[in-house]
Order: sequence, then C-alpha cells, then structure tokens
Amino acid sequence: MTVPIYKGEDNLTMSEFTVVTLDQRPDLIDAADTLASQSGAWPEFMLHDPIADEHFWRLYDTFPAYQVVLLDEEGEIAALGNTIPVTWDGLGDSLPNEGWDAIMQIGVKNHRRKIKPNCASAIQAVVALKYRRQGVSQALIKAMRSAVRQQGLSRLIAPVRPNHKHLYPLTSMERYIEWQRADGTLFDPWLRTHARLGAKIMKVCPRSMTISAPLAKWEGWTGLRLPESGVYIIPGALVPLGVDRERNVATYVEPNVWMLHEIGEA
Ligand SMILES: CC(C)(COP(=O)(O)OP(=O)(O)OC[C@H]1O[C@@H](n2cnc3c(N)ncnc32)[C@H](O)[C@@H]1OP(=O)(O)O)[C@@H](O)C(=O)NCCC(=O)NCCS
Repeated sequence: MTVPIYKGEDNLTMSEFTVVTLDQRPDLIDAADTLASQSGAWPEFMLHDPIADEHFWRLYDTFPAYQVVLLDEEGEIAALGNTIPVTWDGLGDSLPNEGWDAIMQIGVKNHRRKIKPNCASAIQAVVALKYRRQGVSQALIKAMRSAVRQQGLSRLIAPVRPNHKHLYPLTSMERYIEWQRADGTLFDPWLRTHARLGAKIMKVCPRSMTISAPLAKWEGWTGLRLPESGVYIIPGALVPLGVDRERNVATYVEPNVWMLHEIGEA
C-alpha cells in the first residue's frame, strides 16, 4: 500500500484520499460515528464520559463544517477528525485543567449564548484500522487545520491523548511529556506527530476527562474483577483507576496535554 501524499493544506485533495467536511456530506455522519465508537478505536470505558454522552452529538448537529473525513477511493471513511469552535484568550494558563470535558462544554455554551468563536479545539482524531501506521494521521491533522482555517480561525488547540501513555500508567504525565527519543524528538508517537506539524506543548490538563461509575459497570467495561478498594491498572487507561468498594464507585481521571497549532489566516 502506498503512503498518501498530501498536496498542500489549502488543496483539499490528496492523491489517495478525498477530504470532505460533514456539512458537505451529512450522509456520512453515521459511518463517522461508527468508526469512532464501534471500531475499537477507544477502550470501552472512554465511551462513557458523561460530558461526551451529553454533548458529542452537537458536533454533527450544530458544527458539521468542523468535522472532517478522509475518504478512500471506494468512498469509505479512512479517517475522522472532530473539532469544535471555542473561545480562548491565548494565554497558556487559561487553558482549562479539565481539558476535553471543559472545552466541549465551552463550545456548546458559547453557541447557545451566541458568542463568536476565536479559535477551535480538536476533539477526536481516528484513523481506520486498515489505514493505521501509514502516515495518514499527519494528513488528517492537516485536514482538520484546513477546515478550521476555512471558518476564518487561525488557531487550533488540542487536549491531546498521548497514544502510548497507557503503556506507562505509573509515570506522571508531566514526566512523560519530557521523554525523548535518541534523535531528540518526543517519545510519544501522537505528541510527536502534532509537534512535527509545528504544534507546541502548552501544559498538562490533569483532569481532561472524569469517568465515574458503579463497580459492576467498570467490571463490564474492563473485563477485570475489582475485589477491594485501591488503585488498579486497567488496559487502555493513561493512569490507574481508583476503586472505592464501600461506596460502590470507581473513578478514572484522565490527564491529557494541551497543544497549540498556529495555523494562520484563511
Ligand atoms: C493515533 C492515531 C490517530 C495515529 O494514526 P496513524 O495514521 O496510524 O499514525 P501514523 O502512521 O501517521 O504515525 C504517526 C506516528 O506514530 C508512530 N506510530 C503509529 N502507531 C504506532 C505504534 N503502534 N507503535 C509505535 N509507533 C507508532 C509512527 O511511527 C509515527 O511516528 P514517526 O513518524 O515519528 O515514526 C491512530 O492510531 C488512531 O486512530 N488511534 C485510535 C484513536 C486515537 O488514539 N487517537 C488519538 C487521540 S485523539
């Protein structure tokens, strides 16, 4: 299989993939949703964040021009990128510590209050299994940036979920983002991909997603018994899960990393 060659950020056509936004192709919304929710892109527990449950559909309903897909030659979705228009004052310190959950709520609230956005935030990036490890994710990020730029916005912020952090759940995110390869590039593949495209690490958001549920739910999601209170390492989680048997609740608080893409004017 050949690696797709992206022909420039403002030319929405690549040699292998066609890029469309979902206002152009609302018929693809169900397939996009299936790619993200049913293809094993995420560990099951990640699909039970209450903020996502409440607001995720708004991306397709209210902000379809901010949702991009890469289509292969058969018209199937090879990759999906979701973003949301938001406001941010440009100061690193004001990026919310509640990363993903907070920025999703900011986008929805701003829209309700008719507040004009001055930037966009990435929400999700997924490459279909059969197209993984072929360099598609760079093309996807570029397509997300183009869609945002076409809405007249010049910044894309992202609460990035480092895709190898789950292999090091006992290491703090602050230390993990300092790790480098021998060539001086970032250790984590997904952070490195953003950085290679010019994005800067702004700060860790320690409580990007909080998922709290009764133990039976967690046992179902993880396939693990949780026999006593304490902390557990669970597959796919970036940090351990906290279990409180007396209260019959387990809570996962996921840290992410705020990154910034300065993407220029349209
Ligand atoms: C993360 C994801 C988007 C990467 O997409 P991809 O198209 O497969 O990635 P690429 O082929 O463009 O590779 C990007 C970098 O990651 C590295 N990489 C990708 N998968 C890897 C793996 N399993 N092991 C080691 N390195 C890996 C590549 O080598 C490349 O780094 P390099 O160019 O410096 O060598 C994809 O794996 C995915 O959809 N995962 C599930 C959802 C997710 O985690 N999204 C990101 C958080 S929103």
